[in-house]
Amino acid sequence: MTKKITFLGIETSCDETAAAVIRENGGGTADVLSNVVSSQIKEHEKFGGVVPELAARAHLENIDYIINSALIKSKISLKEIDGIAATAGPGLIVCLTIGLNIGKSIAAFSRKPFIGVNHLEGHALSPGLENKLEFPYLLLLISGGHTQFLIVKDIGHYQQLGTTIDDALGEAFDKTAKMLNLGYPGGPKVEKFSKLGDKNFFKLPEPIINKAGCNLSFAGLKTAVLRETRKINGNDKAKYNLAASFQNTINKILYKKTKVAVKMFKDSTQCKKVKLVVAGGVAANKSIRENLNNLSKDMNFETIYPNIKFCGDNAAMIAWVGIQKYKKKLFDNLKIKAKSRWPLDKTAPYMKGPGLKL
Ligand SMILES: Nc1ncnc2c1ncn2[C@@H]1O[C@H](COP(=O)(O)OP(=O)(O)OP(=O)(O)O)[C@@H](O)[C@H]1O
Ligand SMILES: [Mg+2]
Repeated sequence: MTKKITFLGIETSCDETAAAVIRENGGGTADVLSNVVSSQIKEHEKFGGVVPELAARAHLENIDYIINSALIKSKISLKEIDGIAATAGPGLIVCLTIGLNIGKSIAAFSRKPFIGVNHLEGHALSPGLENKLEFPYLLLLISGGHTQFLIVKDIGHYQQLGTTIDDALGEAFDKTAKMLNLGYPGGPKVEKFSKLGDKNFFKLPEPIINKAGCNLSFAGLKTAVLRETRKINGNDKAKYNLAASFQNTINKILYKKTKVAVKMFKDSTQCKKVKLVVAGGVAANKSIRENLNNLSKDMNFETIYPNIKFCGDNAAMIAWVGIQKYKKKLFDNLKIKAKSRWPLDKTAPYMKGPGLKL
């Protein structure tokens, strides 16, 4: 019988302090033995966004307790763990350093292998915790800091097909919620209040929709929301109509651009059966899931989503990358440093800033 690998994962890249213990289950997925996430919503709510210094302080205060809780809940002792994985980037350096250093320390004193994980690879592989995934697949990564279409060829092998040229999708949701005064964190609030509004009430722009393959842009949409917000003067019904129209416009953009990405994926991989994995915090949005499921029926491909609890930041997805890399003997030494920027496809052109030709 082959040994089932068990990993401790640690995540502190932004405003969630998280630790998890997971074990391979022999069927190509994992048993999540514990998954502890301490969210800092209360700390950042009054500022309407993440304040790096406050986030770092909260990680420092909570990290020992969170790791200990994850170990106790899992009923696994440190001795039985095969390795430790901690997020090494991308994210806020002051936050990443806390989880990364404690992960390295645990690995050093317990003499276990250490793996520094790319947070985006955590999102990319997260549906694999519960679904047996085969490479290659098309990934739509929609999170607070990233919005990308990628071909996932293997662990560590990614080809970017398209990306946002300005705001990330999560950021666009958060800013819309802030403009409309719907509360924090923004994405779930926009989704909630959209249900009370008329999604066809406002006609909003779909930037670069007919240009540039499957690249995306949300800045012009955000400006249009701001313009309408000023006109509606806090009227609740109008606010809900605007939230619903914003979300509906996002869905139209994602529908059209995913259609292009699926074609690009087919051309590049020659795969007949396309699997679209949608991951990251925004993948929790049910109307986006419904919209992409409709496209999948129209184009005859399969959609795979992570469990809602693995969409936002968590350490189970970090431990899962750890296990995959352990099996390929892709270990890191303890000199590994936190990185604020760490693209999955290092060869992809940087798509932000003035002078961009589309
Ligand atoms: N139901 C929802 N609808 C829309 N957006 C959502 C929903 N739930 C969460 N989000 C958004 O997801 C984002 C958080 O996702 P995530 O935690 O993956 O981002 P991050 O870790 O900050 O960024 P990254 O993963 O790019 O480094 C936030 O912008 C949040 O508003
Ligand atoms: Mg994230």
